[in-house]
Amino acid sequence: MTELIAEDQDLELEREVPQWLRCDVLDGEAREQAMGMMRRLTVNLRNQTTDQADSTMEEPIDNYLDPDVFKSEVDLIFKRIPLPLALSAELPEKNSFKAIEAVGVPVVMTRDAKGVAHAMLNVCRHRGALLCEGRGSARALTCPYHAWSFSMDGGELKGVYGESTFGEFDKSERGLIELPCVEKHGVIFVCLTPGLVMDIDSWLGEWGPQLASLKLDECHVFSSRMMPGPNWKATIEGYLEAYHFAATHPNTVFTVNHGNTMVFDGFGPHERLGFALRTIDDVVDGPEEAWDPSHHVGAIFWTFPGFSIAGGWRQRMTVALCLPTGKVDESITEHRIVVRHAIDETVQHDLEVMRDWFYDVVYNEDYLTQYGVQKGVAATGGHTQVFGRNEIGVQYLHQTINRLIDENYQEGYTKPRVV
Ligand code: FES
Ligand SMILES: [Fe+2]
Repeated sequence: MTELIAEDQDLELEREVPQWLRCDVLDGEAREQAMGMMRRLTVNLRNQTTDQADSTMEEPIDNYLDPDVFKSEVDLIFKRIPLPLALSAELPEKNSFKAIEAVGVPVVMTRDAKGVAHAMLNVCRHRGALLCEGRGSARALTCPYHAWSFSMDGGELKGVYGESTFGEFDKSERGLIELPCVEKHGVIFVCLTPGLVMDIDSWLGEWGPQLASLKLDECHVFSSRMMPGPNWKATIEGYLEAYHFAATHPNTVFTVNHGNTMVFDGFGPHERLGFALRTIDDVVDGPEEAWDPSHHVGAIFWTFPGFSIAGGWRQRMTVALCLPTGKVDESITEHRIVVRHAIDETVQHDLEVMRDWFYDVVYNEDYLTQYGVQKGVAATGGHTQVFGRNEIGVQYLHQTINRLIDENYQEGYTKPRVV
């Protein structure tokens, strides 16, 4: 393993522990798990290695390009699995809503007057206008085109503007189209196929307690910005390895983290990664009682297919959701700053700095590199990429995609190519 620090390179390493890393969310079993990750990370650091897959893996480049493979991903995976389209904290009040486009499908989530979450297609049943955008509060969803209004508890058609002039029709047939929706562990999960049974407990499995331990339902959302990106797999791969830190992020992420070392655990389709913050060097040889994983381990809790909680043990986190648009070569990421403490003017500036730092790093360093990857794969169709043993999280992502397509396969669809 190499850290890629040239001898003459004047690298300013961050060894101070910022105050906001301190966090007491780690208790009981969650703390034990975090300590276990830190123990494994210190062994990897001492041995100058990282968690590894059994072998390298080749991935056919056509899987990033082929519209038929993409259609299989959309129809057999994205339209069938629970998608984490909102944090509970984004609909904090009764009578609130959040609209989002997921895989090209306009969705609105609501919290009704009783506090129950619902999801519907964000499409008016009169003539198809989008009902709302962003987040907000309302007692009903009122269409901006001709002012029909729909209830917050499932989209029943409640009001028709100029009804006496409109003529006869069955209003009960003109409610919004409901989508399966469940709120769990501070996340609102939605399935894009109406009527499909969504078994959230079996989808999360052992990952459920991991998500629960982050106590997302106690958090607040400071900011949310949309970030365009290339193909969803090319984009998400960057979240799942530390191999690129030194080369891609020499003056940002790499000054804070060791590169090319991590601990990895797969939980069904989901992944938990732990990176070594440079502050770990100061405690690695000291007594375990003095360790605090929230200071020294950069943890990524990654829920398939693209929901990344970075720094989930801390007072402040980034929570990203990357999904494809309706096109094979486009993704869109919702990039959020989420905090555990109150948001007031004393922290406003700090949070703005954090928001801009992460957004700039992710977009200017990761995503612009991945736009290059998109051009690269377009020029090398028919060949393969190779994932290293040290890129175990990326290997796991592709194995999971292939497995889910196999499990949900229907005749007529194109399977991803394999080597
Ligand atoms: S399209 Fe919504 S009221 Fe006409
Ligand atoms: Fe990165």
